[in-house]
Amino acid sequence: MSNSKTIIVSNRLPLQISIEDDKLEVSASVGGLATGMKSVHTEGNGIWVGWTGITDEDLNPKLRDTVNKRVKQEKCVAVNLTEQDIEDYYLGFSNKTLWPLFHYFMEYTAFETKEWNAYVEVNQKFANAVLEQLNDGDTVWVHDYQLLLVPEMIKAKKPYTTIGFFLHIPFPSYEIFRTFPWRSEVLEGMLGADLIGFHTYDYERHFLSSIKRILRLEVNFNEISYHNRIIKVDSFPMGIDYQKFWNAALKHNSDHEEKSDLQRRLDEHIDPEHNKKLILSIDRMDYTKGIPNRLRAFEYFLNAYPQYKEHVRLVMLAVPSRSNVPQYIKLKRETDELVGRINGQFATVSWTPIWYFYRSLPFSDLIDLYTSADVALITPVRDGMNLVAKEYVATRTNTDGVLILSEMAGAAKEMNEALLINPNSYDDFANTLKRALEMPEAEQKTRMKFLQKRLKRYDVEKWAKEFLSALRATRELQEVIVAK
Ligand code: ADP
Ligand code: G6P
Repeated sequence: MSNSKTIIVSNRLPLQISIEDDKLEVSASVGGLATGMKSVHTEGNGIWVGWTGITDEDLNPKLRDTVNKRVKQEKCVAVNLTEQDIEDYYLGFSNKTLWPLFHYFMEYTAFETKEWNAYVEVNQKFANAVLEQLNDGDTVWVHDYQLLLVPEMIKAKKPYTTIGFFLHIPFPSYEIFRTFPWRSEVLEGMLGADLIGFHTYDYERHFLSSIKRILRLEVNFNEISYHNRIIKVDSFPMGIDYQKFWNAALKHNSDHEEKSDLQRRLDEHIDPEHNKKLILSIDRMDYTKGIPNRLRAFEYFLNAYPQYKEHVRLVMLAVPSRSNVPQYIKLKRETDELVGRINGQFATVSWTPIWYFYRSLPFSDLIDLYTSADVALITPVRDGMNLVAKEYVATRTNTDGVLILSEMAGAAKEMNEALLINPNSYDDFANTLKRALEMPEAEQKTRMKFLQKRLKRYDVEKWAKEFLSALRATRELQEVIVAK
């Protein structure tokens, strides 16, 4: 069907809107889902349904009209949410229940019936917004943990619609998931999709185990029989827009005249002759990213290998995120204190061990950071994928640099040539950091070339194409079964 389209649905649109003095301020969304899907959406034929970042209370009719027009220019459709929706569905159930539970932070997980009810209601708002846009032959692709019930809500109204679902975060083991009071409802919600995708085989395996043990459904390899349908489950490790990062880095490296202020400041520290090196970490400020662990381990490293004092600098960018949720407030405080303590303990008149930025930086600054870093230190305690690790690799156009990556990131499954560490072991951390700083250039290049080859081949466009073609294949299989 030539004019059929793909409807992407996620909580957050790729653009964020805020209002200053009755004027719209538009910025790009941060996070793997938005940055990854953005390139798929810009090139494809389709629309994106999601939240703009502002609530109904911020808008008068004129402003709403302006927002809708602006959003439409970007091939998006806004779902209207109230402050109460954001409180209970987004800050509440999505980020105080599902996010910590799925990342194995049981001690942070709240089970509030009021927030669950809001989650159901808001999922229905998203489903309704999709249904308004939906024509026969369209494909719907629902994303992430905020919208687990949407596939079933759409299937209930339009049973012949082709629906895919992709989870961007880990799916926890059965032992964790079984503690969740609404476990059956959530699984049934996801089963509205014809194809369910995860970043890794482990998440897929955990999901299938919960399907068998909680819903007691028949599972044949990766196929689930449910309501006379066959639903497929598979893993699709998400890639990045490799060429975008590679080209930006090439341009950056050839623009010797036009250095940014940030680049000039970074250059002041880099001095290969005197073995002065930059170590980089970039994350959303999130407790899953292991920021306090990393800081404590860096302190341990400086004590264990004092010869590195004055020679290494950790540049740590933490992008503000969900800053109204209590655990994020606590994390920010803890991070500020640790950075202050470590800098206070080790700094000299000419050296500050940690440069800490708590803000969102423009893309060009991200490129300055990636291209300047001798070592990228990506050490989440739990992470669905981690695209930052992949972006670092894509910017190393000279094929030098070392990636240290936590085993707990989904990305570790496909990045074996990185130095993989257990982020909870200070010894592992300190020894690996030393190894990275001392790695001969030839070894850096061999490892980097392998990593680059794989990331270039399996980029985000390939990822989306594979998901969508597997979705089409699942539908064809269902049609064959119905015809028999
Ligand atoms: P998560 O999805 O948990 O935030 P990822 O590492 O998968 O973690 O994705 C983070 C994404 O956010 C990356 O694509 C990264 O480039 C992007 N990002 C990080 N900092 C910024 C920033 N300041 N501005 C825009 N995008 C950013
Ligand atoms: C992760 C999640 C996304 C989310 C992003 C940013 O990448 O998987 O769904 O959009 O973090 O978080 P936020 O709460 O700001 O949307």
